[in-house]
Amino acid sequence: MGAPETEVLIRQHLIDPEVCIRCNTCEDTCPIDAITHDDRNYVVDPDICNGCGACVPPCPTGSIDNWRTVQKAAAYSVAEQFTWDELPVQQELPAEAAAVDAPPPSDGGQQNAAVSAASTTPPWSAAHPYLNLYDIRRTATATVAGNYRLTDADADSDIRHIVLDFGTQFFPVLEGQSIGILPPGADASGKPHYLRMYSVASARDGERSGYNNLSLTVKRVVTDHEGQAVQGVASNYLCDLQKGDTVQVTGPFGAHYLMPNHPGSNLLMICTGTGAAPMRAMTEYRRRLMAAGKPVEGKLMLFFGARRPGELPYFGPLLKLPPSFIDMHLAFSRVDGEPKTYVQDRLREAGPAVTELLKGDTYLYVCGLKGMEAGVMEALRDICITAGMDWPALHARMVSEGRFHVETY
Ligand code: A2P
Repeated sequence: MGAPETEVLIRQHLIDPEVCIRCNTCEDTCPIDAITHDDRNYVVDPDICNGCGACVPPCPTGSIDNWRTVQKAAAYSVAEQFTWDELPVQQELPAEAAAVDAPPPSDGGQQNAAVSAASTTPPWSAAHPYLNLYDIRRTATATVAGNYRLTDADADSDIRHIVLDFGTQFFPVLEGQSIGILPPGADASGKPHYLRMYSVASARDGERSGYNNLSLTVKRVVTDHEGQAVQGVASNYLCDLQKGDTVQVTGPFGAHYLMPNHPGSNLLMICTGTGAAPMRAMTEYRRRLMAAGKPVEGKLMLFFGARRPGELPYFGPLLKLPPSFIDMHLAFSRVDGEPKTYVQDRLREAGPAVTELLKGDTYLYVCGLKGMEAGVMEALRDICITAGMDWPALHARMVSEGRFHVETY
């Protein structure tokens, strides 16, 4: 007979609310939907979590890797965890309590990561990223060097190119990494706003080469996913910033959504809207390398979706890039008199060129609306099948080799 519930100990998986940056990576990664969130905290449901650890390696901050030994019957509930501002300390346990049930995995979840749909390791040749140099207890202070509207004046959305300068503070970033922005003020319950993550849109050597600055691509959020009116706290704060204002920043974050450094690597980039940020960063870095006469033999292929040309961030500068540098496929969904076209439609149209690229030393990046993920995966599968390729095997190999990166929201 087993020990009664009051005596059985478990290693309860918890998320540190002080360190968590609410990036949703853990919730996206958990294979059994044990992670959930409210508008303040990300939490692990003790009734569902099996301690597999699949969420541990992708977490950019390490806030996910917290465990407390508790009596099974007294595990911290989801409702209780939602109220936390900090983790509880480890409680002393009764001496008669039984052995620990379900210890955390010793491999940090690597086995699970290998079968997930996207890479949790970086490309082999990626530069080593700096991580978590600044957190909410010790932020970096950036100064706004510019805030420019990217979308047409009459466009549905207000998307901004915001340049932040770090002066003499050490704030190195790589293309594909994100930073946290801490909006000032407090929410309705009086608690300070939590930070929001934004992908860096500039190359590692600065928005302006040689400067200690970076750029972000920020859309002013005025509706939620259901179309109801909401004021996005951080996005409205950022979009309203004036040159010279200061901003509290954390990070950098992101250890695997990084670009390869070896010159023969191809980049296949698929994005919608502000998902253009990492693609702009990677493209600009490659462009600078070429302009400096460095050897860059790899190809660049971009699929980019927006409602209309006037809604597509960086439309003008993109069109100036020569086809010999980047093979560009734009998809517009709301142009009068034209059929609604998504990035996955353009992928299918360009099937032979895409599969040729996928046969080579190619690194794939997806960024943008969550809704496009399934459509993109289906299109990739179909064009590979048409080309007589074994898509499941190729996909699995790309994932395990750090060549298949997805960031959607
Ligand atoms: P749509 O016109 O159907 O909304 P947004 O401007 O909202 O950021 O969206 C960027 C682009 O992504 C738009 O063209 C939008 O089309 C498109 N989009 C929306 N849903 C999907 C989807 N499931 N797959 C691919 N693209 C999508």
